[in-house]
Amino acid sequence: MAFRADGAAAAPAAPLAGRRILVGISGSIAAVKLPLLVSALVQQGAEVRCVLTPSAARLVSPEALACLSRNPCHLDADQWSHREPRPLHIALAEWAELVLLAPLTATTLARWVHGLGDTLLASTLLACEAPVLAAAAMNTSMWDSLPVQRNWKVFSRLPSVLALAPTAGLLACDRQGAGRMADPDLVLLALESLALVGNQRDWQGLRLLVSAGPTREPLDPARCLTNPSTGRMGVLLAQAARLRGARVDLVHGPLSVPPGWLEGLACSPVQTAAEMQAALLERQPRADAVAMAAAVADHRRARPTATKLQKLDLERALSQGWEAVPDLLAQLVERRPAGQRILGFAAQSGDVLPLARAKLARKGCDLLFANPIDRPGCGFGGLSNGGWLLGPGDQVSALAQAHKLAIAHQLLTALHPTRGGPGRSPGDPAQAASG
Ligand SMILES: Cc1cc2nc3c(=O)[nH]c(=O)nc-3n(C[C@H](O)[C@H](O)[C@H](O)COP(=O)(O)O)c2cc1C
Repeated sequence: MAFRADGAAAAPAAPLAGRRILVGISGSIAAVKLPLLVSALVQQGAEVRCVLTPSAARLVSPEALACLSRNPCHLDADQWSHREPRPLHIALAEWAELVLLAPLTATTLARWVHGLGDTLLASTLLACEAPVLAAAAMNTSMWDSLPVQRNWKVFSRLPSVLALAPTAGLLACDRQGAGRMADPDLVLLALESLALVGNQRDWQGLRLLVSAGPTREPLDPARCLTNPSTGRMGVLLAQAARLRGARVDLVHGPLSVPPGWLEGLACSPVQTAAEMQAALLERQPRADAVAMAAAVADHRRARPTATKLQKLDLERALSQGWEAVPDLLAQLVERRPAGQRILGFAAQSGDVLPLARAKLARKGCDLLFANPIDRPGCGFGGLSNGGWLLGPGDQVSALAQAHKLAIAHQLLTALHPTRGGPGRSPGDPAQAASG
């Protein structure tokens, strides 16, 4: 996808558009969440086929899934149909480009780990070579049980499997604890990640510190100085790293992203630049890499007013009493432990590259992602982004306009503490995209 000469930008393709996705559903009550998830896949342009275990078919309607997937829904009885010219489990396994296995029950997990193919879903999974995203769901005691934990350990290490463990919350059995299927927004995101970069585990054993979102600097109890950052870019960077195996600390201002995207991240919500500074500096010593994606305010009130300013006093108050916010990126660079890599962000308008080059030289970070906020399809809030990744010396590579999750993965590859680098494909993102 490219910046077009007329300044307009066609939206980058959705990560799952045109992909053939097999959705395997086993008998957990979380199956009731699948129809909407299937609908979301179809709305992205994916081709979807659903396979249900007999237990799943009692909990969620195959008719609803057939209707929402625009395809017949496959049940165990279909495996032995005289209408199928090829064994259905083989045909489905070969058809699938990606598999979504959600919810995954203790039984279906055990079947796979022990190589049993006694349902249509189980035999299809054994025959399938496509990457699998699996989201487990079960009662807390079932999840904690030794056999399930043993099976999960084996399963989640399979190279083709990206496994999402259940999260904690209120369960249908009225227990409060681990067992809920990962949030559907996160399941969708993880599937998109699998489609974009496969099941990469290159951040396994590494720790990433990410900042995201805006800060809010209070003027008085009713007003603040802030900016339009939603935190989408930073949160996607954090979640992409987590899906690639990293442990991620996320320090964030007020966010406008689906709450499910925060699952599995160690989140520290803050409001002001001072709070962000304290949270980042505390967490920095244990990080292998830092990505400073937050849009931190440049100025704050030297002394915020304790009571609400009256309208007539506002103009005078706005024209005086501000102070500069400390430069968080420069502080992180100054204090970094040996070997820690740091990525900065520069959201700029106009002629972005010279401004970004000057910022990189001033701050001394390893990498700087410069993204224009005045071009369609880039910057705050949207689904896509694009820009230039600058490194030491004159190194610069254009990142063509793409889905923010795809940009996040490219940034992570460059930031990797042992394998990273900005790459060398200078030019305009438009050139890079069309080339
Ligand atoms: C209402 C209901 C909810 C259930 N929820 C779960 C669940 O969340 N996780 C699980 O592992 N089993 C759950 N079970 C039990 C499974 O359905 C049962 O173990 C079944 O054998 C699973 O088979 P399958 O994996 O072929 O679907 C539930 C059963 C019922 C009746």
